[in-house]
Amino acid sequence: MAGEEIHFVPHAIQQPEHDTVLVVDFGAQYAQLIARRIREARVCSEIVPADVTPAEVLTKAPKAIIFSGGPASVHVPGAPLVDPALLDLGLPVLGICYGHQLLAQMLGGYVTESGGREYGRTKLEVGAGTSALFSGLPVQFDVWMSHQDSVTVLPEGFVALASTEGSLVASMADVTRALYSVQFHPEVVHTDRGQEILHRFLFDIADCRPNWTPISIVEEQISAVRAQVGEEGDVLCALSGGVDSAVAAALVHKAIGDRLTCVFVDHGLLRQGETEQVIETFSRNLEIDLVHVDARERFLDLLAGVSDPEKKRQIIGETFIRVFEEVALDYRGAQYLVQGTLYPDVIESGPRGAAKIKSHHNVGGLPESMDVELVEPLRMLFKDEVRRIGTELGLPDEIVWRQPFPGPGLAVRIPGEVTRDRIVMVRAADVIVREEIDKAGLEREVWQSFAVLAATRSVGVQGDGRSYGYPVIVRAVVSDDAMTADWARLSYDLLDKMSTRICNEVPGVNRVLYDITSKPPGTIEWE
Ligand code: XMP
Repeated sequence: MAGEEIHFVPHAIQQPEHDTVLVVDFGAQYAQLIARRIREARVCSEIVPADVTPAEVLTKAPKAIIFSGGPASVHVPGAPLVDPALLDLGLPVLGICYGHQLLAQMLGGYVTESGGREYGRTKLEVGAGTSALFSGLPVQFDVWMSHQDSVTVLPEGFVALASTEGSLVASMADVTRALYSVQFHPEVVHTDRGQEILHRFLFDIADCRPNWTPISIVEEQISAVRAQVGEEGDVLCALSGGVDSAVAAALVHKAIGDRLTCVFVDHGLLRQGETEQVIETFSRNLEIDLVHVDARERFLDLLAGVSDPEKKRQIIGETFIRVFEEVALDYRGAQYLVQGTLYPDVIESGPRGAAKIKSHHNVGGLPESMDVELVEPLRMLFKDEVRRIGTELGLPDEIVWRQPFPGPGLAVRIPGEVTRDRIVMVRAADVIVREEIDKAGLEREVWQSFAVLAATRSVGVQGDGRSYGYPVIVRAVVSDDAMTADWARLSYDLLDKMSTRICNEVPGVNRVLYDITSKPPGTIEWE
């Protein structure tokens, strides 16, 4: 397609309400972070796969394109490439790391595989002469590098803007075509002036307007939901009790009111007070039509005698689907299903961003047999943005700030068989952990905190006699995204309070342990 004539003037397109920048994803762990930094600069960003076509780009009417970093070398067969015609659209481009090397290679420069590898903090020297990308910045500052290959020959029309000890061309530009690139990662916090560099690109080079906010997305999504679901037909939403589905439901309710019915399946494996909280918030406060299915007995009967963790998950997932299907029979006309899919889920669900349901992050997915279209009003947002919107929409803090909670609920915190007695024990211990974390003012600092009921028993002395009880394992972790986590350094005093209270207040428990394993090698949950 190279050289194909493009009959399109991006600015001729009707001005959208806010400006959008596309981030072409080359498989970088940083693509999300780049997108996020752009939003922090109050410009809307969307991640697109490397095989995005120029026509697809134009339908999104972006103000600029960013090529992300990526793990590949441009020299490796199969390394992700982009259609060179993307560079002929007249849009400003910023290449980052792999994107910088790809730009050099596509335009006739040279990327060498040897030497020049740099990892971590590196001193950047900005060259003499002003460039819009570095204007007003110091001539020397620290940037974050992570690369093996380096650009050694500039493409025609480009000049080098900055260098480091290992990279002669740590940044380059063809100013007339508004093509810029950097070898380092401006999106990471370790790059000192990273956000300013992104600002220079967005505002000075690409002429973006900083008018995007998560609130604009509420208004926009309300209109989008109305447009998607038309004038009639039922819309269903499966509420899990977690923040994502709650915010999605509240937003869709704002858009279409009574046409939304929320289905809340109580599988008996929720934390104490959560069922009441969901009913109180949705049916009473927000006056949303809520079908509360008390399926506790059904789930627990099916779980009787089952110890294998995967089998437990499978039973819970399948039963959830059956229950949901039964409710949906009453809403046969329902054509739409609301999902609280977030931005990171969209990215993880495949290069085309298809609305795939991650089984890990839902209660076993949703019925395949249901012929419904998904409504996903949060698919542009990160968790903290969703929380802000939740508050804006009037959801209480107890829901908006609820910790992530696994779909299969307490079943993944009860290794071995899930019995009614064991649920009572883990729930009671869990309340104590939560209360003490709250009292210590740590509820927002700690990513997740909970109790696990071990499957073995041990001898203890309680009161005047010998006890043979279960140990409770207290787990509290700090994390940004649950991909990795560290155990929270809770004070001995706090642990002591939890331990004393759990042994005193939870019958059947005679020992408390604190899990000091990070992830990896552990996981957050215990199964
Ligand atoms: P692990 O235990 O794998 O958990 O470190 C990572 C994060 O995912 C949550 N989790 C789940 N969430 N359905 C969910 O919706 C599940 O089946 C599930 N299993 C784990 C866990 O709480 C942590 O936040």
